[in-house]
Amino acid sequence: MVMQVKEKYSLKHLNTFGIDVMTKYFVGLDNDREIKKFLLNNPYKGLPLLILGGGSNILFTKDFDGVVLKVNTKGIEIIAEDFENVFVKAKAGEVWNDFVNFCVEKNYGGIENLAMIPGCVGASPIQNIGAYGVEMKDTFHQLEAINIHSGEIKKFTKAECTLEYRDSIFKNELKGQYIILSVTFKLSKNPVVNISYGAIRKDFELMGIKSITIQEIRDAVCRIRLNKLPIPDEIANAGSFFKNYYISKKKFETLKNSYPDIPGFKTEHSCYKLASAWLIEQCGWKGKRIGDAGVHEKQALVLVNYGSAKGNEILKLANQIKNSVKEKFCIELETEVNII
Ligand code: FAD
Ligand code: EPU
Repeated sequence: MVMQVKEKYSLKHLNTFGIDVMTKYFVGLDNDREIKKFLLNNPYKGLPLLILGGGSNILFTKDFDGVVLKVNTKGIEIIAEDFENVFVKAKAGEVWNDFVNFCVEKNYGGIENLAMIPGCVGASPIQNIGAYGVEMKDTFHQLEAINIHSGEIKKFTKAECTLEYRDSIFKNELKGQYIILSVTFKLSKNPVVNISYGAIRKDFELMGIKSITIQEIRDAVCRIRLNKLPIPDEIANAGSFFKNYYISKKKFETLKNSYPDIPGFKTEHSCYKLASAWLIEQCGWKGKRIGDAGVHEKQALVLVNYGSAKGNEILKLANQIKNSVKEKFCIELETEVNII
């Protein structure tokens, strides 16, 4: 297929915040060969390049004076298996939830708790997506990526990706340096379900189910998500706008003295995860709306666009929230969403 290039192209339908900005050039690429060819003969060298997946973790604050490259590569392949495990490789442009469903239907376990996270497979390592007690790093095996300057293709092991809570090398040292082409996961043929997250455990207790399959976990996760999180097609958003906040036991206990109801979740590294949603809610922001920019009424971590909010209006609201959390709790919230 011929490379699709568009000029002065609206990104409104390509970001889940529904922000109406234009890119100078828009290029859609359908296979790895085209991606390599484009990088080696880039007619727009010198202009900024932005790689776009599903646009579900991006806030555009202005028109993009460069090239937006949308990765549309498809394909899911079983590359190796033994008695216990199966190695499944998915192309970057596969929709993440389609990939989860493919694996769950085949009873390959490990990513069922990550059902219904919007976006594409290629973006999943960028912030090491996570939900309901699982992160993608738990089943990540390796990825292939192409260097945007040299066109060289490199395999990255798990250790090389430095996958942490909502973070990876691709948000730090290698930011903007590589296009992820595919990701390979090591999944289990004898899945053990993970119901460590309170909301999932409660769901199964309510239904009285004892022996749980990964299909039931996937369905429970979808039920919980539909109940709590706004669907971008109905109310535009990019999921949690801020990250949760990790503090030491000592700091947590000090906060607990002042705020006895503060929820804290003990983590494996003997520190505590604070629910940033709670901090924001305590500052009175939950359900607030300023013009078309707002804080979701059921989830204070999720900022929403009720219609025609500009990216800068969402950002202004985010900064106001940050300031009030800092003032009340002396805590500096960190943004999860990529601001462009
Ligand atoms: P995009 O938004 O298109 O891009 C995100 C970043 O990755 C950008 O910096 C982009 O340049 C880069 N990028 C994208 N593709 C590539 C590639 N192939 N190569 C190199 N760089 C690339 N996240 C969670 O972790 N857990 C959740 O539970 C969760 N829930 C969400 C719920 C809702 C309703 C929404 C809207 C979002 C949620 N998110 C969640 C955030 C988002 O879905 C994830 O971050 C997702 O991985 C983003 O994928 P994307 O394809 O849309 O990436
Ligand atoms: N809470 C409030 N007010 C709210 C919402 C939540 O006080 O409005 C408190 C409650 O105490 C609740 C706790 O926060 O028990 C946790 O809430 P929830 O289970 O909804 O999860 P979260 O910590 O707010 C994180 C992720 C989500 C992920 C869920 C489920 C981050 C930044 N967010 O949210 O990821 O889906 O856990 O695992 O880590 C995303 O990254 O975009 C995202 C949606």
